[in-house]
Amino acid sequence: MKYNKITLLLFGFLFIAYTSQAQWKIPEKAKKSKNPHESSDTHISSGKKIYASNCKSCHGDPGKANALLPTATDVGSADYLKMKDGSIYYQITEGMGAMPSFKKSLSDEERWSLVSYIRSLANKEAVEEGGDENMLDKLSLKFEFDKASNSVKASVTDKSGSPYSKAGVPVAFLVKRYFGQMKIGEIETNESGLATLKLVDIKTDEKGNIELSIKINDRDKYGDVKLTQEITIGEHRHFKNILEERALWGSRANIPWWMLFLYVGITGGVWVAIVYVILQIKKVKKLGTQINT
Ligand code: HEC
Repeated sequence: MKYNKITLLLFGFLFIAYTSQAQWKIPEKAKKSKNPHESSDTHISSGKKIYASNCKSCHGDPGKANALLPTATDVGSADYLKMKDGSIYYQITEGMGAMPSFKKSLSDEERWSLVSYIRSLANKEAVEEGGDENMLDKLSLKFEFDKASNSVKASVTDKSGSPYSKAGVPVAFLVKRYFGQMKIGEIETNESGLATLKLVDIKTDEKGNIELSIKINDRDKYGDVKLTQEITIGEHRHFKNILEERALWGSRANIPWWMLFLYVGITGGVWVAIVYVILQIKKVKKLGTQINT
């Protein structure tokens, strides 16, 4: 019996090894199927959203070869984009191995909008290849906080300080926290080189300050462009230091009341008991000497 289990296990491994080597078998009919929805801007942008919430976790950003699962393809790569619409649709629908099937979790239209989105990347790449000069280390960033609208306005400029008019530069906003920086948003610039982020429910220190960093979130293309500054935003949630409250983990002056009473009670009780025992012993001794005399 024991050996049987081991053989079974071995076969299991072999099976996994075999299936992970498997190739896509896309039926001819599926390859030929056409996108029934017209590839409009709204369709593409909804595909982009669906991609961000369902696919990015494994495939990374399309065109950047930063997939998180090593075997997951960069669906924005020029190589991949030679695929036919029908094949892309089939792959998303059926899945294979580590690639899940989205037949049940995404509607037909959602899957086709993903195809439109992935397809749109090919065009974008073609556009970007023609005419866009190398932007590495050519841009600068600055930002200001506007109290009235409670938003941070980041502007991307070239080195001479004039706004970078080519829209779509991704600007990430980060706030300093105990253990590093927390991203609170990412906005693409408009034609005036501006990316504006409204601040919602940000934890500040007791003076209403935060340390905000902004950076251009496409290192390959623009290089390391970053700016960090402390700004006062006020009136948001004050970030209470957990050591300030009366709690179990508080410093000695801040321990909870019940613990203080318990401590005083127990140590006091022990002292009372000791004194009582000593008194009793004295009493016994006294009684003993009385009997002896
Ligand atoms: C759990 C991780 C994971 C998720 C989530 C995921 N994929 Fe995949 N995907 C993979 C892996 C791994 C492969 C490679 C499968 C293989 O070839 O063995 C793959 C392959 C593909 C392929 C075929 C690429 C090729 O090389 O032929 C497409 C297209 C694809 N995925 C699109 C998507 C889309 C669109 C989504 C979101 C709806 C998505 N994937 C979500 C892991 C994932």
